[in-house]
Amino acid sequence: MAGKEPCPLIVVRPSRCIVDEKFLVLVQNLPPGLAVTVHALIHSEDDDFWEAFGHYISDDRGCVNVAKDASIGGSYDGVEPMGLLWSMKPIPGSRPGLRLRKKEVHTPLVVNISVYQGHMNERFKDTRALACAVAERWYMAPGVQRVGITTNGLKGTLFLPPGAGPFPGLLDLWGGGGGLVEYRSALLASHGYVSLALDYMTPKTSGNGTQHVGNDYFEAAFRLLQEHPQVCGDRIAMLGLSFGTSVALGMAVYSPVIKPKCLVSVSGSHVMPVNGSLSDVFAEIKKNAHNTRHDEENRIIWRDLLLPIPDDPSKKVDVGRIQCPVLLLVGEDDQNWPASESAEDMRQMMEKAGNSHLLTIASYPGTGHLIEPPYSPHIRASNFMVAQARTKVIVLWGGQTVPHSKAQEDAWQKTLVFLEDHLYGTKHRCPRPQN
Ligand SMILES: *[C@@H]1O[C@H](CO)[C@@H](O)[C@H](O)[C@H]1NC(C)=O
Ligand SMILES: *[C@@H]1O[C@H](CO)[C@@H](O)[C@H](O)[C@H]1NC(C)=O
Repeated sequence: MAGKEPCPLIVVRPSRCIVDEKFLVLVQNLPPGLAVTVHALIHSEDDDFWEAFGHYISDDRGCVNVAKDASIGGSYDGVEPMGLLWSMKPIPGSRPGLRLRKKEVHTPLVVNISVYQGHMNERFKDTRALACAVAERWYMAPGVQRVGITTNGLKGTLFLPPGAGPFPGLLDLWGGGGGLVEYRSALLASHGYVSLALDYMTPKTSGNGTQHVGNDYFEAAFRLLQEHPQVCGDRIAMLGLSFGTSVALGMAVYSPVIKPKCLVSVSGSHVMPVNGSLSDVFAEIKKNAHNTRHDEENRIIWRDLLLPIPDDPSKKVDVGRIQCPVLLLVGEDDQNWPASESAEDMRQMMEKAGNSHLLTIASYPGTGHLIEPPYSPHIRASNFMVAQARTKVIVLWGGQTVPHSKAQEDAWQKTLVFLEDHLYGTKHRCPRPQN
């Protein structure tokens, strides 16, 4: 009296969540012992397709649980609950040099998850799936507000957590790629911080040629956070990535206005002391342009622009004068910036100066320059627009996919704990608002 077999089914839990949350992918109602491929697909805002997939065998109840079962092939191996995201690559035949980055943070990253019969490696588009499901992954949690900032000559976007606050604040500085990059700030607001993503690399063009910003620009941004009614003015951190670290460290040491409560550096350096106009810093970097290298595929390696680490103290931020806790996140295979050498030199400088108790270094083997929020695909190299020269090159960032992806998870956890300790904690005036 066997009834009709139930249809295969994919369950994704939660099907809607924040991008740094883990999801559970379950396939049910398969015949037992069936070879299947679980496949994830993203259609990017730039109209490219990214995919990842694992090969599984259904268990004796006809189920596959991606969080518990081992993939025996595909774009990742073994038990990898989030392999369907971090191992994503552009589908075969895509344009070269792609990088997956969310620009429209008010919409989710939509991931289509499908299950196919057999262990497939290609032609997913032309094959009928046994079942499909959709997962929405958001940078902005429900209730997070996004506010464009144009006052005082600033160009940025402020993200506010839901509720009246007050909340601790964050000044979020990206690197030399420039532009206004919002997704990390959106995600930090989802964790309870008022976060200002600031565009500081785009030069102002006037009748007077191009002009880069200076200290007053960053000070205006810091003040904007300090004076915001939803911000605890004495609980503001700075977050710098790559070149943004040079700015964050420089301001923390040299600016009389900017007094961060703590500072997080991702893949940064203290060489290139930012104190004054960025134009001077760029002129200094240009002098080292002859140190640019290329790999066998002609991809640009920029890490030597700052090497060897100079002995001349005037060429480095005087980190011995730092007065706030600093967390350095370092990829040991960073091909773009000498983050490892810089971290070691900063440690020595701070030991000599007696403030090394403020320093925490988290250093990750096999990890490249682009340490992104967790589960972001690892990008070893990608197209890069050299702003000044207006030319497109391919830059080698470094890292190996598995260790890099684990490092992204750990680095993000460490960042959240560090911010929580120094901006919320228990003894602070800025308690977490109760829901
Ligand atoms: C993802 O699934 C949805 C719902 O089934 C569908 O409308 C959409 O076209 C799919 N996207 C891709 C890229 O296949
Ligand atoms: C260019 O800008 C500088 C500094 O802002 C100013 O001193 C100078 O007079 C300007 N020159 C012209 C030609 O406008």
